[in-house]
Amino acid sequence: QKGGFPHFMLKEIYEQPESLRNTITPRIVNSLPDFTEDGIDDEVFKNCENITVIACGTAMHAGIVGKAMIESELRIPVNVEIASEFRYKEPLINEKTLVIVTSQSGETIDTLEAMRLAKRCGSKVISIVNVKGSTIARESDYVLYTHAGPEIAVASTKAYSVQMAAMYLIGCRLGLVKGIYSEEQAKEFISKLLGTIPVIEETLLQADEVKTVANYIKMAPDAFFIGRGMDYTLSLEGALKLKEISYVHAEAYAAGELKHGTIALITENVPVIALATQPAVYEKMVSNIREVKARGAYVILISMGDEVTDTQICDKHIRIPKQDSLFTVFAAAVILQLIAYYTSDAKGLDVDKPRNLAKSVTVE
Ligand code: F6R
Repeated sequence: QKGGFPHFMLKEIYEQPESLRNTITPRIVNSLPDFTEDGIDDEVFKNCENITVIACGTAMHAGIVGKAMIESELRIPVNVEIASEFRYKEPLINEKTLVIVTSQSGETIDTLEAMRLAKRCGSKVISIVNVKGSTIARESDYVLYTHAGPEIAVASTKAYSVQMAAMYLIGCRLGLVKGIYSEEQAKEFISKLLGTIPVIEETLLQADEVKTVANYIKMAPDAFFIGRGMDYTLSLEGALKLKEISYVHAEAYAAGELKHGTIALITENVPVIALATQPAVYEKMVSNIREVKARGAYVILISMGDEVTDTQICDKHIRIPKQDSLFTVFAAAVILQLIAYYTSDAKGLDVDKPRNLAKSVTVE
């Protein structure tokens, strides 16, 4: 059942290239994103003036990545709401808001109730759901199924990647329908999205390298994930994954925010996982890394290619293949998942069934 892997989580991490292929390729017609088979009407994209993403946990983190991508590419405002908060608010949405509800199980009660509220506000809802025929899929106006296959491990990995891919597909179709992207631009976007699949395959070859990092992190009571831009959105998920299965307390910080308080916690040997895959802010990241290094942090740098000239800034360097900075989240996510996995495993914990957690949260 585990296909030769010691845990479902590791199996599911390795299934990501296939899950992404299954989610993306059926929605590509003539090299362009196409939701005809899903029955999603382009009217929803034409009418949309802003977007609200509603979800919980990892699914919400996929929404935060989607927000960063859509806002920077399309200049359309995206609001990401924690479902359990949204459902008790008077929401600021209307018929001009496209609501995207993201849920692996399609049964998370807070997400479901938040979606019902969004519909009462007159918004059209597209759900991004993995489980066929689940309640959220049935009750949403449109559903974009992710084809990750069953996810057994409590910690979500492949479902997260395909949720991000679904957000990218929606962003690309939206850009095309609104005339923000030309056909050429949309084709280029899709080709880069598909390009993340071999990049992930290559990234997975670094599992042994990541294992050595995990052997360090397992001894730490706390860890910090820092990044800027797309990297910051990803660090939120990196911290959640580590906490969830390895019980190492972890926090994600926008790298520029450290000096506004958190840097007080950076002392000798504290692991700092620094994501630096965004060339536009790379130098800024390097100066943030120097700040933590100067306080004795053990820096694990995740970056693209070979930008680092000064080896002094990090203790461990994990490289992901060179690619467009809008798409690095897919490969970098795999590294973060592997860090959490190997840390949990090195501590001898029950990786697939972390304490106090259930796969599907159907109670409030
Ligand atoms: C973390 C994790 C959870 C879920 C969250 C939402 O690894 O799996 O944070 O993402 O409970 O679940 P779904 O996506 O089923 O709505």
